[in-house]
Amino acid sequence: MMKLWGGRFTKSTDSFTDHFHSSISFDSRMYAEDITGSIAHATMLGKQGIIPQADADLIVKTLGEILLDIQEGNVSFDEKAEDIHMNLETILISRIGDVGKRLHTGRSRNDQVALDARMYTKKEIIAVQELLKNLMETLNDLAEKNTETIMPGYTHLQRAQPVTLAHHILAYVEMFKRDYARMTDTYKRTDVLPLGSGALATTTYPLDRDFVAEQLGFAGITQNSMDGVSDRDFALEFMSAMSIMMMHLSRFCEEIILWSSHEFKFIELDDAYSTGSSIMPQKKNPDMAELIRGKTGRVYGHLMALLTTMKGLPLAYNKDMQEDKEGLFDAIDTVKMCVPVFTNMIATITVRENNMLEAAKGGFTNATDAADWLVKQGVAFRDAHEIIGKLVLYCIQNNTNLDDLSLEEYQAISPVFNESVYAAISVKQCVEARNVTGGPAKEATTKVIATNKAYFATL
Ligand code: ARG
Repeated sequence: MMKLWGGRFTKSTDSFTDHFHSSISFDSRMYAEDITGSIAHATMLGKQGIIPQADADLIVKTLGEILLDIQEGNVSFDEKAEDIHMNLETILISRIGDVGKRLHTGRSRNDQVALDARMYTKKEIIAVQELLKNLMETLNDLAEKNTETIMPGYTHLQRAQPVTLAHHILAYVEMFKRDYARMTDTYKRTDVLPLGSGALATTTYPLDRDFVAEQLGFAGITQNSMDGVSDRDFALEFMSAMSIMMMHLSRFCEEIILWSSHEFKFIELDDAYSTGSSIMPQKKNPDMAELIRGKTGRVYGHLMALLTTMKGLPLAYNKDMQEDKEGLFDAIDTVKMCVPVFTNMIATITVRENNMLEAAKGGFTNATDAADWLVKQGVAFRDAHEIIGKLVLYCIQNNTNLDDLSLEEYQAISPVFNESVYAAISVKQCVEARNVTGGPAKEATTKVIATNKAYFATL
């Protein structure tokens, strides 16, 4: 097969080399973007009189036919034609001969691949955001059902203060809201047309880049051709946003794994989202959560790989940049599997409210509130801290907790205590008293849930 760039060569490439440098096995997934981009380019070439209008029309018509044929599974690509760009051009030329050879006027594969990758990334940002929105809505609904489900909040994985399951879940909703916003931001910088940059220094033809941008739905056009062909920030930014999002998902998975363990027993996973053991009949394993946690490393890896690939590249295009695609695609595929699996998994958990409540009651999660109660009686906070510390020690030594001590036991440590301490340190009261914006009280979380709903409706 004659290469589209074969003119200055006297020998054909080594067949293993063809295999080595070919990208068709993975960039074929950008066929629709490549064809749509070519249609806009050809339309512009005709409009500007750079190629005859009749030729432009035939190219546009034939590209449309090729698109349908690919969608129907009637086209096969050839590794020898290297990448999706040259495969499609080769097919075009095979169908309409010399007219097809005019398509690549005023264009390089360098700006072409940058265009395709941006179009593809734009599409996938929207797709990932849609999945994220579903996840956020699912979490917000679960929070709404659990504004009174008391559980221990932790620091250092030691029981710290009582919160509610709603409050805990809403913490993740905040993270996913930021992830969503980061992707919206990435979209803005991706939404810039690089076509017209040529190989690196634009072209001598009177291209109408704004027209192409409008045809393809880009908000703007790149302002430097060397940057236009060698910028992969959009892929890096999207992978960064996905990595951070996966980090959030992974933390949540870690908690799901802990909560569903026999040690915690806070939740039970639905059978549809757990697996058994081939040897231990009693096992119900949280494999989905573990896999999502595991795949997070894979997404980070792709980000690191591309950052590393880019770090030493002189301007402008270098073939190293072909390495951008597999990682980006795999990161997208991975995220698009993880988010819906997580969403369905969390939507189907059974909450063991009683176990959460019992755990909140144990572990002295109301110790801060007991100290605060003393402060309200006029004791200085440091002294209050000391008094409650002594009481906690007494409880540990006598295997009891603050709620179950008698008033005599309290007063033995400080005469300030009276009956009203009991109401102040009930876990329910500990939660309800924290009615600060951002706090766990039912009233505070209910407001956030409503604000979230209004926000989701704008997405
Ligand atoms: N397949 C190439 C890539 O993905 C397209 C651009 C090739 N350009 C070049 N001058 N070899 O980067």
